[in-house]
Amino acid sequence: MNPPIVHVVGARPNFMKAAPVIRALDERGANQRLVHTGQHYDAAMSDTFFHDLDLPEPDCNLGVGSGSHAVQTAAIMVALEPVLLDYRPAIVIVYGDVNSTTAAALVAAKLQMPVAHVEAGLRSFDNAMPEEINRRVTDQLSDLLLVTAPEGLVNLQDEGTAADRIHFVGNPMIDSLLANVGRLDTDGMKTRFGLVESYAVATIHRPSNVDEPWAARRIAAMLSDLAERVDVVLPLHPRGRHSLEEAGLRATARLRVISPLGYLEFISLVRGAALVVTDSGGIQEETTVLGIPCLTVRPNTERPITVSQGTNRLVEPEGVEAAAAKILAGDWRRPTELPRLWDGHAGERIADILLAFVAEADPARDSPTAGQRSGRGS
Ligand code: UD1
Repeated sequence: MNPPIVHVVGARPNFMKAAPVIRALDERGANQRLVHTGQHYDAAMSDTFFHDLDLPEPDCNLGVGSGSHAVQTAAIMVALEPVLLDYRPAIVIVYGDVNSTTAAALVAAKLQMPVAHVEAGLRSFDNAMPEEINRRVTDQLSDLLLVTAPEGLVNLQDEGTAADRIHFVGNPMIDSLLANVGRLDTDGMKTRFGLVESYAVATIHRPSNVDEPWAARRIAAMLSDLAERVDVVLPLHPRGRHSLEEAGLRATARLRVISPLGYLEFISLVRGAALVVTDSGGIQEETTVLGIPCLTVRPNTERPITVSQGTNRLVEPEGVEAAAAKILAGDWRRPTELPRLWDGHAGERIADILLAFVAEADPARDSPTAGQRSGRGS
């Protein structure tokens, strides 16, 4: 049995990136293991995504839960080290920019295990974002830098990264979106939330928007002003609920404050929206592909292609209402073409690169597709 390819995931945005890679590797007969760190643990933040994305049960759940950055990162490292020593992976794959990503890359690199980073090279150039630190550290530690958007190539080149580590593969999060478009039930979601007119979907959870009371007050005011103009559905991440309520956020008939939604539910709702207001990273990409106007309530984005080529605009909280009014009046630029390689096949490209890498690193390794299929977890 070949040493396994080990995926480490932990938080909501990891799951839709990992699913197409796991599927493509499975189709190629690769031996795989899936480790869940437990960074996200609520059913609505994790289990529903595994179900919707048809992800296999994790082979191992580290169950680390929440904590400060140091506590959470350290807990993942301590729990993951013996698991990786046991699995002896051919390579460890990490996804995106969450604490689980960086913690896993650190453990693997220190055990002299090769690391592949899916979504390498994105930069907001804002170290006040914990994710920016995670991205930079993870890229430094990774042997394979799997890049989802052209600006990632430029950033890595500017940092002097060796070209042979970098592969432009396209966007596996978009693979998941395109694979599931046919399963969406937008009408069902509209009925569920009593939406008959145009509506906006809002998601806000970044520390910079919800942790400080003054920032949370700006967001709460923005949401209630927006709801004066258009129906708003706000699936609220647990992180922001308390501080936004303290800051004056109140559910009304036009501002539906709801629990986090599953993957298919959320995308179904977004597909029918007149606009989206968010501080998420992935939603900037998903709205670009769905052609839904997106207002990102942040001073910067690590995903500038969604602005230059997509439907996204960066706004201050105080600018949301006016920007929404323009969108509702039909005054916005429709994108003409999707970013390159956001075509639904990134997972396959990633799988081929991973298998070529591990075959080169270990020439004694059996071809994964030769002979009997080993399959994941077997
Ligand atoms: C994490 C990522 C962020 C990503 C977001 C998506 C980091 C540094 N941040 O932020 O990049 O956009 O996930 O959701 O990794 N909580 C629950 N249930 C859960 C998980 C979290 O109630 O299942 C609450 C806890 O109060 C926890 C807080 O949310 O303390 C924050 O969770 P954490 O995983 O630290 O970061 P996120 O804000 O979710």
